[in-house]
Amino acid sequence: MSTTDKQPGDASLFFRYASMFACPICTTPMQLVQGKSLVCARRHCFDMAKTGYISLLVRSPKSKYDKSLFKARNAVNAAGVFDPLLDRISEGMQERIVSQTGSIKMLDAGCGEGSHLSRILNRLAGQAPAIDWLGVGVDLSKEGIRLAVRENVQAIWCAADLARCPFADKQFDFVLSICSPSNYAEFGRMLADEGTVIKAVPASGYLRELRELLYRETARQDYSNERVVERFGRYFDLIDTERVTYKAAMDPLLLEQIVQMTPLAWGAPQELVREATAERFAEITFDFDIMYGKQPRRDQ
Ligand SMILES: C[S@@+](CC[C@H](N)C(=O)[O-])C[C@H]1O[C@@H](n2cnc3c(N)ncnc32)[C@H](O)[C@@H]1O
Ligand SMILES: [Zn+2]
Repeated sequence: MSTTDKQPGDASLFFRYASMFACPICTTPMQLVQGKSLVCARRHCFDMAKTGYISLLVRSPKSKYDKSLFKARNAVNAAGVFDPLLDRISEGMQERIVSQTGSIKMLDAGCGEGSHLSRILNRLAGQAPAIDWLGVGVDLSKEGIRLAVRENVQAIWCAADLARCPFADKQFDFVLSICSPSNYAEFGRMLADEGTVIKAVPASGYLRELRELLYRETARQDYSNERVVERFGRYFDLIDTERVTYKAAMDPLLLEQIVQMTPLAWGAPQELVREATAERFAEITFDFDIMYGKQPRRDQ
């Protein structure tokens, strides 16, 4: 089946890739039944939503991320604000694939409203059209996943908990984690032997201008990701790191959306959040570290 055969909102991708799934309750293999349910060997059953995603959540999650935050992230991404980061991640993936044909599967773990994965898939499909790229996005939030289906119908979107990822072992050539929490034990389990984990985290300059205003004279004004980098290295062989730093031009609407999309504003006094939104920043700094990891080499 070629990329163009992938149908919006129907079960064709789930049908084709049903063997990739494992039950989030008992880990046994799953099958697509009647074109609409994934059912495991022990008959745990998860139905597809009519809108074209599947929830493999075992319990209702509590989330601080609501629809307005996801819509703001979506609008900020649509304005191209994350493009330099997504360009680098896509190039980093291209540099790490061994063949320009065949099929490559990537999981975006904590994909939110899906626009990062969608934009990465578009880049890769343009740069290496002979490869059959499969994108799978997983997030705890159904609100996020519903928006993701609208963003890109040619990917598989699942509501699921990273602590109980509903996939069999060694399924993915790439596991991406972009500004999201990680479950490295699960990432390692799902990553193919030669696969790569790519984790992007905010670096010290990320949203510097907003941070200075929202957290004047508090410890949160400074941000260090040292512990995140150290923890990544405990699970994977860190083969590369790179820094992506740039400034994005602002207008008042974009600035408002950036304040809305970021958990940065959650702990700050409302008065300062309003002040930040009204501030006429000409540009805002974006600063990320990208870590590339491989399965740890086991000593013979
Ligand atoms: C800061 S947002 C980043 C979303 C997206 N990667 C982006 O950069 O726009 C963090 C995301 O992680 C998701 N998340 C948090 N805990 C999770 C878990 N245990 N399993 C799956 N997703 C989770 C949240 O729902 C949220 O969408
Ligand atoms: Zn089961």
